[in-house]
Amino acid sequence: LQVLFVLSEMVPYSKTGGLADVGGALPLALQQLGVDVRILVPWYGRPDLHEMHWFCSVNTPYSQEAAELWITPNRPGIFFLRYPDYYERDGGPYQNAQGQDWPDNPRRFALLNRVAVEMAQGRVSGLDWQPDLVHVNDWQTGLVPYLLNLETRIGSPRPATLFTIHNLAYQGRFDPAIMAELHLPAEDFHWQGTELYGAFSFIKAGLIYSDQISTVSPTYAREIQKEAFGMGLQGLLQQRSAQLTGILNGIDEVHWNPRADPYLPAHYNARSLVGKSQCKAQLQQSLGLEAQPDVFLLGMISRLVEQKGVDMVLDILPDLLQRGMQVTILGSGEKYFEARLQELAAVHPGRLAVRIAFDEGLSHRIEAGVDAFLMPSRFEPCGLNQMYSLRYGTLPIVHHTGGLADTVVDAGDFARDEERNGFVFSFAHSDDLHHAVLRAAALHREKAAWRHLQKQAMAANHSWEHAALSYLELYRQILERRKSAQ
Ligand code: ADP
Ligand code: GLC
Repeated sequence: LQVLFVLSEMVPYSKTGGLADVGGALPLALQQLGVDVRILVPWYGRPDLHEMHWFCSVNTPYSQEAAELWITPNRPGIFFLRYPDYYERDGGPYQNAQGQDWPDNPRRFALLNRVAVEMAQGRVSGLDWQPDLVHVNDWQTGLVPYLLNLETRIGSPRPATLFTIHNLAYQGRFDPAIMAELHLPAEDFHWQGTELYGAFSFIKAGLIYSDQISTVSPTYAREIQKEAFGMGLQGLLQQRSAQLTGILNGIDEVHWNPRADPYLPAHYNARSLVGKSQCKAQLQQSLGLEAQPDVFLLGMISRLVEQKGVDMVLDILPDLLQRGMQVTILGSGEKYFEARLQELAAVHPGRLAVRIAFDEGLSHRIEAGVDAFLMPSRFEPCGLNQMYSLRYGTLPIVHHTGGLADTVVDAGDFARDEERNGFVFSFAHSDDLHHAVLRAAALHREKAAWRHLQKQAMAANHSWEHAALSYLELYRQILERRKSAQ
């Protein structure tokens, strides 16, 4: 089985969020199951240059000059798309250093999609390989199923397509004028085609024209068919519900392992948490929090955007601090949230530590060093940090939504007592979050009960192997279905 996996960010080469973690792990897990997966991802030219070699040039109607594919001997099978003018800039993959979207995003990602299609159709010289299926991810790759559908219309066979939704909130909506520039037929611009509320939408193209849709948790797959979570696409997703599946993400259990994590000052396991106390003490010291071994210490690591419920945390922070709890928050995102958090930290030294940064090492030290993890997301397609938390014996406090609902079981859930591993609240409202944190703080004082939950949390198995098996099964179903339709 040959699969081309296309995405816009991937660890260890680039990352703004969980998509990059998925890209770094899922293809590897599939390879271990014997799938021949090749990856196409833009190269954003980070300074820590890995050993890379030119592989070939690709001419497309979407760029003035030829784009280039580069490969690395460390990870054969990854094709880095190089087009310095588009990708090798100061700033992030999607935004400039000031947090504004790059104005030429439709062109930048259309090129990625076009090159994916050239690879899929066997038109890349030097690449003697063609996929049976193309697996694309989020709006940045939404044109691939559409462009492949256009190939069918001119009589060329094409591989099967799977579109995975990691976040429906980002829709790649642009001025319809882009269609002419990308040589896309205007006749597809209607409500059952590429049009979304007057705009041309990459995600809509992906959702309409792919053979199959998946998303990253079973609960999110149900939620997005309803108005509250569908972001305007619920009707289409209902219509396609027979081809819409939810597969829960895994986590990289080598990279996130409290027994051997190189970022941690001490290590531990479910049988002995002495190392976790040392991580807590060291974290307090390094962040300038008061050295109190028994204080209830909460952590949060997040993109600072409305989705993640930062505003709810801001609402309740003063009360939590006043009650003697400690809180540390690592994140970056909207300037308003960054500023509010920093203001609060300035008036609560020793109790609230805020770091506005993207810091991989600190994120591991927070997961290990805190007692409980705040994740009050309004919606969360899957979420990875709650699973990292479980593995690190850090009890998650989460809103009952998406992947959070699929991985965290409330400490008071009597029907599932052996699965209890955290705290869950039902409504995305600061009062509900507040109540859940107070319940957690009360239980934290009952040492044996807390320890019991930590043990259950650490017993969870969220390996990628499990998820990869589900994807493999899905790939087979898609191919079977196409075969019998032909
Ligand atoms: P999303 O993709 O919506 O941001 P996820 O929970 O799936 O949410 O994944 C977020 C990933 O990004 C996690 O691996 C998390 O640890 C990481 N992350 C988010 N913000 C930061 C930060 N400021 N520093 C380090 N890692 C971060
Ligand atoms: C998105 C979602 C997050 C998910 C990640 C990886 O960024 O917001 O919930 O875990 O993608 O699938």
